[in-house]
Amino acid sequence: MDHFLYQGGILHAEDVAIPDIAAAVGTPFYVYSTATLTRHFRLFTEALAPLPHLVCFAIKSLSNVAVLKVLGDLGAGMDVVSIGEYLRAKAAGVPGERIVFSGIGKTRAEIRMALEGGIRQFNVESEPEMRAISEIATSMGVVAPIAIRVNPDVDAKTHEKIATGKSENKFGIPIAKAHAAYAEAAALPGLRIVGVDVHIGSQLTDLAPFEAAFRKVRELTLALRADGHRIERLDLGGGLGIPYTRSNDAPPLPTDYGAMIKRVLGDLDAEIEIEPGRLISGNSGLLVAGVIYVKNGEGRDFLILDAAMNDLVRPSMYGAHHDILPVAEGAPGAPTQPFDVVGPVCETGDTFAKARELPLLAEGDLVAFRSAGAYGAVMASEYNSRPLIPEVLVQGHQFAVIRERPTYDEMISRDRLPEWL
Ligand code: LLP
Repeated sequence: MDHFLYQGGILHAEDVAIPDIAAAVGTPFYVYSTATLTRHFRLFTEALAPLPHLVCFAIKSLSNVAVLKVLGDLGAGMDVVSIGEYLRAKAAGVPGERIVFSGIGKTRAEIRMALEGGIRQFNVESEPEMRAISEIATSMGVVAPIAIRVNPDVDAKTHEKIATGKSENKFGIPIAKAHAAYAEAAALPGLRIVGVDVHIGSQLTDLAPFEAAFRKVRELTLALRADGHRIERLDLGGGLGIPYTRSNDAPPLPTDYGAMIKRVLGDLDAEIEIEPGRLISGNSGLLVAGVIYVKNGEGRDFLILDAAMNDLVRPSMYGAHHDILPVAEGAPGAPTQPFDVVGPVCETGDTFAKARELPLLAEGDLVAFRSAGAYGAVMASEYNSRPLIPEVLVQGHQFAVIRERPTYDEMISRDRLPEWL
């Protein structure tokens, strides 16, 4: 459920009419709903209670500091994969004790900064990383809390570019090598083992692969404890999928996911950490765009928008589907027609949808892409020298720009001419 509904035939974000935001900030823009972010975060905390747990929002899905503050103020932890994300979490007021640091390529500089600023745990992805963390921590006279990310060799049955839990993927330490890795970690002076970590992929629409992975984590935890390791936390990663269309099979709900976690791991007396991104942020955001032209092509009509693949890359990168809504709802029974919905970028890949059935839209009309909160703004670029688009946060009747649209001057003035030119 989200808080983007029609009121009086006009699409609203909570109680704010989308055209009012468009008039204030111009199109295209992203808009996020505080009520939806809050609701989705709470679904997870309710699903895991009464187990001790921490829901660490995967910042990579939506990293605006205002959004992080909404979630951080609710008690969320944060899952970061770079020191940039770490600093965003800190800027939102989230303390280091609620930040977990994931990712396969943490640099020494990043590890040092995280240790200086405080960190809940590093999710370690390789033996060389483990040694580097120990070395840096020792040189600083501190001990780094770590969990080892194990690769359970489970097929997440999702898009190949976002599956991470098969042995052929670059992530984690193969579960068969976990004993040796934990033994080495225990012997390193700068490390304190706190748990086990796993993340098998994103946009999973079935609980079975999660359950298969969590059963392996369970076996491993019991075995590691028998070896004398203290496994106090189980970080189960993110990955629960969302419905991108209103018609397709609904993915499992956080309640089902939580019930399964309790069934498989609930008796282990461990704190459960999860790292959801998309399920919290995805349906909390829209991308709103304006129609520049309607072009009648050979056997098809193109709806040319002012948003493009540089603003929302998921359709061209993964062939992803996003529902497209007219901001002014067509009257019941009003005619529709198929449109190829495209942006102005000069490549054919800049296509959002083909033959999408929509009302008869015209120049100047507004459309909204649903489920654009996750992996939307964060994956944007300035391709074709299109400045990054603004982000807006709504709460009830209020809205605020939470990232400004840069001016062309700001974009261009980052470039420098070498003195010989
Ligand atoms: N934890 C780790 C270690 C991750 O790598 C990810 C996502 C998450 C948590 C959050 O997963 P989520 O709950 O959002 O599924 N750009 C792609 C998705 C990439 C996901 C990468 N890792 C897309 O647009 O679909």
